[in-house]
Amino acid sequence: MKIGILGTGMVGKAHATKLIELGHEVKMGSRTANNEKASEWVKANGEKASHGTFTDAAKFGEILFNCTKGEFSIDALKMAGAENLKGKVLIEIGNALDFSKGMPPTLVPSYCNTTSLGEEIQKAFPDVKVVKTCNTTNALIQVNPGLLKGDHDIFLSGDDNDAKAKVKEILNSYGWKSPIDLGGIVTSRGVEMMMPVWLQLWGVYKNANFNYKIVTQ
Ligand SMILES: NC(=O)c1ccc[n+]([C@@H]2O[C@H](COP(=O)([O-])OP(=O)(O)OC[C@H]3O[C@@H](n4cnc5c(N)ncnc54)[C@H](OP(=O)(O)O)[C@@H]3O)[C@@H](O)[C@H]2O)c1
Repeated sequence: MKIGILGTGMVGKAHATKLIELGHEVKMGSRTANNEKASEWVKANGEKASHGTFTDAAKFGEILFNCTKGEFSIDALKMAGAENLKGKVLIEIGNALDFSKGMPPTLVPSYCNTTSLGEEIQKAFPDVKVVKTCNTTNALIQVNPGLLKGDHDIFLSGDDNDAKAKVKEILNSYGWKSPIDLGGIVTSRGVEMMMPVWLQLWGVYKNANFNYKIVTQ
């Protein structure tokens, strides 16, 4: 499959690399066509890897990933162009955080409690099928759940069931056996507001290699 990854940070690189390993063609997008991190990633990942602007990646991908800084994701998606997102599945991984008062960051008020980044992206781009996932764990675990011992969980939120089924297939190919479908895109609120807990756990374990596990009766 042709996949467009919007974002050149840890998350973009982790998914782009994993998708290449799985045999997909991947274009990594950035604000600029000559982004150094994207160009290094292409050099290391062979002929199925390419890079360009957010627009180039959005045009290229049959499925798209939003791996941009959450507080600027809507800007990044506007740069990609609504016409290039139309009708496609957008796997949305962002957390909108405010680092202006140092660490730990807080949630950006316009993206929490009564809304979320996932919902705001869906509202801003009604023709794209937004599926929120993976934002509750670190980039390396997102694409390789086997890094941690035992079973642990990942969540899905989105209004379009066919889109969620496609995203589940990708997550299954990464090794996630049973992603938990929380419901519509409105449920992004909950997973985005797990971030303060994640940050506190990071302080407790002094590294990012942990995840949530849901147990039932
Ligand atoms: N790091 C993790 O393990 C982790 C885990 C879960 C969720 N997340 C979330 O996943 C997203 C990506 O995280 P990350 O750590 O990989 O990278 P990041 O540093 O949060 O984001 C990097 C990307 O954001 C773009 N960007 C930055 N400022 C922008 C602006 N003003 N306008 C448009 N685009 C802008 C950058 O564009 P250029 O390419 O042009 O520089 C780059 O592609 C974030 O929302 C983060 O909260 C991260």
